[in-house]
Amino acid sequence: MDILIVGSGGREHAIAMSVSKSPRAGRIYCAPGNAGISQVAECVPIGAMEFEKLVSFAKEKEIDLVIVGMDDPLVGGLVDEMEAAGIRTFGPRKNAAILEGSKAFSKDLMKKYHIPTAAYETFDDAEKALEYLRTADYPIVLKADGLALGKGVLICSTAEEAQEGVKTIMEDKKFGDAGNRMVIEEFMTGREVSVLSFVDGKTIRIMSSAQDHKRAGDGDTGLNTGGMGTFSPSPFYTEEIDEYCKKYIYQATVDAMAAEGRPFRGVIFFGLMLTEKGPKVLEYNARFGDPEAQVVLPRMKNDILEVMEACVDGKLDEIDLEFEDNAAVCVVLASEGYPLHYEKGLPISGLERFDTEEGYYCFHAGTKFDENGTLVTNGGRVLGVTAKGSDLIEARRHAYEATEWVQFANKYMRWDIGNTIMEL
Ligand code: AMP
Ligand code: GLY
Repeated sequence: MDILIVGSGGREHAIAMSVSKSPRAGRIYCAPGNAGISQVAECVPIGAMEFEKLVSFAKEKEIDLVIVGMDDPLVGGLVDEMEAAGIRTFGPRKNAAILEGSKAFSKDLMKKYHIPTAAYETFDDAEKALEYLRTADYPIVLKADGLALGKGVLICSTAEEAQEGVKTIMEDKKFGDAGNRMVIEEFMTGREVSVLSFVDGKTIRIMSSAQDHKRAGDGDTGLNTGGMGTFSPSPFYTEEIDEYCKKYIYQATVDAMAAEGRPFRGVIFFGLMLTEKGPKVLEYNARFGDPEAQVVLPRMKNDILEVMEACVDGKLDEIDLEFEDNAAVCVVLASEGYPLHYEKGLPISGLERFDTEEGYYCFHAGTKFDENGTLVTNGGRVLGVTAKGSDLIEARRHAYEATEWVQFANKYMRWDIGNTIMEL
């Protein structure tokens, strides 16, 4: 099978690596890809939102399966365009990707189908939102409705902060059209867990759990980022919690989407908060998490193409997912200053060791080859250094050891990825 992967981050590198291990894989292309992905796939210089060019490329190369990794093209309807051209594609259609594309949609869905989530109200109008905030309880959470690179969520401790937040989202339009609507929701406390799943429209299969570290600084301080590190499995995701989620959240979401005439095929990412009153959904994403994919996929024993084809064909009930009985930790190497201002174009060295050491992976996010063919930094998140171990403590030690192999001038990382494991 010839494959085209759409995207350019660490997630797409992890997907490409899994695909390259499949005995079914023929040629593997990635658009636009990055320097690391070019080791396992042929990168083609087409952007993830250039739908016409992507469809033409897929037709010309007679691609057997397109895999859309990123949220923007999914929400924008790339899967529909590919299917209209007769190309098999893994990922939700536009009418299902709205599960991630609109927080108001996903909240209304959860309410209608009694899926546990934070209490909320939706607003199209800044005045009404401000009025509501006058009598609300604090802290409170404001969310821009649409996609905002994971940054459209504001946690406000006071009424003043919340009023400022409404201005930022709905009037100043800091997150663009994503802020035409807003969800205001109850603030919840608890541990967060990311659970990824494969879905074929009716059947759902859960992958091993993971936990992300979203803030830029140690001790969960500083600005929100795309994710500074992950570990899998999460020891806080117990069997009891798994049973509860299977009963009230996972299948219920898949059934709700089908009942709404929006069957979901692809990956649903459940962002859960384990509250005192039980697990609740923080958010849904319509794709693999990044960097969650970097710790979950290396542990998956299944042939990823077999699973993805089963999703496309509605035959996921014939598949059982299997994960290695071990753990993985990913530490993101970022550019100093991320997520605000940082330098790019700095040479990276020391990656050779990942080619020979079993159980160690270096997934590329923001990298490229410069005009001299030198590997250089090309983004805020540069690399995801992942290592496996027999348990989380060993995996964490291996991952931090491997971060020392890699050098670039403005290398920055968090030193406390997976520290919560030590509390156990
Ligand atoms: P989201 O993009 O919806 O996952 O939100 C980003 C982050 O904001 C989450 O990972 C949580 O840490 C936090 N968050 C979102 N919603 C809530 C909530 N209702 N209560 C507390 N924290 C929240
Ligand atoms: N790591 C969080 C996300 O992919 O949205």
